[in-house]
Amino acid sequence: MGPWCAALYDRMMAPLERGRFQAIRKQLLRQARGNVVEIGSGTGVNFPYYTAAEHVIALDPDPFMVARSLPRATQAAVPITVLLARAEALPFPAHTFDTVVGTLVFCTIPDPLQALCELQRISKPAGTALFFEHVRVHRPLAGRLQDGLTPVWKRLAGGCHLNRDTLALLTQAGFDVTSIEPHYQGLFLVIAATTPSPSIAPRLA
Ligand SMILES: C[S@@+](CC[C@H](N)C(=O)[O-])C[C@H]1O[C@@H](n2cnc3c(N)ncnc32)[C@H](O)[C@@H]1O
Repeated sequence: MGPWCAALYDRMMAPLERGRFQAIRKQLLRQARGNVVEIGSGTGVNFPYYTAAEHVIALDPDPFMVARSLPRATQAAVPITVLLARAEALPFPAHTFDTVVGTLVFCTIPDPLQALCELQRISKPAGTALFFEHVRVHRPLAGRLQDGLTPVWKRLAGGCHLNRDTLALLTQAGFDVTSIEPHYQGLFLVIAATTPSPSIAPRLA
């Protein structure tokens, strides 16, 4: 995302965080237990909300975002290790994590399906997956507006696509979605899922 996005990110997000996001993050992340991995952890905005995890490994490929997240990692209630890495190539062995987490990240990851397959690979069988994402809405006019705005928006906002159908990608990657909670008229979704047992291959098209 670069130095400017990293410097401005928390300030730009502050109205949304004060609005509903802080409560959403708190509710979502208290479900993160055991050995946890968070992809695209950015400035570490989720770090204060981990209360039940044993250990969190948080990763992001942007060194400017990672640098901003380090003070939050040291102040967190649980141990958090921050790494520079891309979600499409996770540097962990298979079946390592009890919980995988991603918030507002699948809009930006260049290959979200590959990232989801990687999350499945490193997750323990029947592990927990917790996501909070903005998505393409299923209202024709609003969806087309998101499609139209995305080429410009992704240049301004560090590669963020307004029109990713992340729920469809999750299903395509083989996650078993257990709950979906829409916010802001379905523009944002809180999604809980489980990873299938290793015998079930990801459903890549
Ligand atoms: C919109 S920010 C979200 C930050 C934070 N997760 C949150 O909830 O506010 C998207 C983050 O995804 C990161 N990102 C971009 N490409 C990525 C990739 N290939 N793998 C993992 N993270 C990536 C960006 O560097 C950025 O920190």
